Amino acid sequence: MIIFSDIQLLRGGKVLLDHTSATIHPGDKVGLVGKNGCGKSSLFALLRDELHLDGGSCQFPSSWQVAWVAQETPALERTALEYVIDGDREYRDLEGQLHVAEAADDGHRVADLHDKLAAIGGYSIKARAAELLDGLGFSQEQMAGT
Ligand SMILES: Nc1ncnc2c1ncn2[C@@H]1O[C@H](COP(=O)(O)OP(=O)(O)O)[C@@H](O)[C@H]1O
Ligand SMILES: [Mg+2]
Repeated sequence: MIIFSDIQLLRGGKVLLDHTSATIHPGDKVGLVGKNGCGKSSLFALLRDELHLDGGSCQFPSSWQVAWVAQETPALERTALEYVIDGDREYRDLEGQLHVAEAADDGHRVADLHDKLAAIGGYSIKARAAELLDGLGFSQEQMAGT
């Protein structure tokens, strides 16, 4: 659950939010809309612990996984699909550790990392990333393109 209680958020001398309250329940799918510069990205920065409140309080799960895609995407030699997968930092971290363990021929560590990847749904990540892009209207060719 995410709870904003009577929050105030200032930025660059501008009041972005004042006396604002909202509750988001587990399973809710929420869209945030508002004109340019009204504070949408700032609210996300708050949830990522990059900005701090000027008033009120905000509660969110102490242990949670947040995936996001930057508003300005750099021109990358990376497919859209890989870029979406990059959003799952825990997956990328485990994948990197797995490569290291494989290169070191560390069988126990490899097995342990496979268990961890399975536990976070790592084996279905490509399918899930493709589903997400499909939902956003990307064609198969666009998913595989850079
Ligand atoms: N790094 C920053 N330092 C100071 N002010 C900022 C910074 N980033 C954004 N702002 C200001 O905060 C306000 C909200 O910005 P932002 O949260 O990016 O809006 P939105 O995402 O809704 O377009 C804007 O007026 C913007 O000028
Ligand atoms: Mg923004």
